[in-house]
Amino acid sequence: MTDDGRIVAADLDADDGDERSLRPRSLTEFPGQDRIKENVSIAIQAAQGRGEALDHLLLYGPPGLGKTTIANIIANEMGVAIRTTSGPAFERPGDLAAILTGLKEHDILFIDEIHRLSRAVEEILYPAMEDFALDLVIGKGPGARTVRLAMPRFTLIGATTRYAMISAPLRDRFGSVFRLDFYDAATLTTIVKRSAEILGTNVPEDSAMEIARRSRGTPRIANRLLRRVRDFAEVRNGGVVTLESTRAALAKLDVDDLGLDDADRAVLRCIIEKFGGGPVGLETIAAAISEESDTIMDVYEPFLLQCGFLNRTPRGRIATAAAYAHLGIPLPDQPAPPAQQGGLWEDE
Ligand SMILES: Nc1ncnc2c1ncn2[C@@H]1O[C@H](COP(=O)(O)OP(=O)(O)OP(=O)(O)O)[C@@H](O)[C@H]1O
Ligand SMILES: [Mg+2]
Repeated sequence: MTDDGRIVAADLDADDGDERSLRPRSLTEFPGQDRIKENVSIAIQAAQGRGEALDHLLLYGPPGLGKTTIANIIANEMGVAIRTTSGPAFERPGDLAAILTGLKEHDILFIDEIHRLSRAVEEILYPAMEDFALDLVIGKGPGARTVRLAMPRFTLIGATTRYAMISAPLRDRFGSVFRLDFYDAATLTTIVKRSAEILGTNVPEDSAMEIARRSRGTPRIANRLLRRVRDFAEVRNGGVVTLESTRAALAKLDVDDLGLDDADRAVLRCIIEKFGGGPVGLETIAAAISEESDTIMDVYEPFLLQCGFLNRTPRGRIATAAAYAHLGIPLPDQPAPPAQQGGLWEDE
């Protein structure tokens, strides 16, 4: 923490035991997302060379791929304080104005779930991002007037799982926009080995690869599976992680060969078994499996799409032939070709 009580990136790592302790603190410690790392690193060096604040940037992609981590790394590498908030936390425009006035020159304001800012709050953000100005309305009724206050040059980092829900005026005010992709198995293996080392667990290469392969391309899940694999080895295998104990632990969690868990399979099964393979609307699926439609869209769907198990069409979601195969469900009979007409009068 700085003298005036602001939280700096390093503080966020002080908290042991949860996922923060596994968070890389610098770009060089952060495996994967090479294109983003390269661009961010150039932007940081350029901003530092000019002694300016970094341009505003927007990070989007499915949960657990490293958006929050990258925001904190940027603050660390820029050597500035980061103020972390989230879209739904702002009820009134004044809430955001209060945070903006508390920022210091070059500080980072990180707004998670930025797609959930209300329109009124967003409008405070436009002049702040563009002109580093805060437009405050003083008084009420006919006597009300707007006063423009200058603000320090700060950097806004926005994160979202829903790029499409960001309004165009907000999107346009970001200097760069980056999409985080799912990680490949090799990169996730590196991440598992790094996390294992931090946790003080010896995980052989083949086990690390097995965890990586079954982590839905997502570091947060890799770390979670690693912890469970470690627990299992401690309780059932004298603390030694082997490929066999890893597989047994993952089987207990119902994580299948491709990394799908119960919830992923429930989505596919629902489409296939209750709705004949689709198309079926998202809300209908959500109601059928008692899950929030937002969760299905943000958490389950991106990976099912990536695996090629699901298609989105204007009429709804469709389970693909690969999904049937993965679940071991026979494809329904193709609609029979129209029966041969004729016959009755053939002889005439
Ligand atoms: N490239 C990486 N290398 C190592 N660990 C990573 C990496 N990316 C993410 N992680 C780990 O995965 C976890 C989740 O990352 P993070 O919180 O940054 O994801 P996020 O994209 O912000 O997710 P959400 O959308 O849910 O907020 C963290 O514990 C972090 O340590
Ligand atoms: Mg996050």
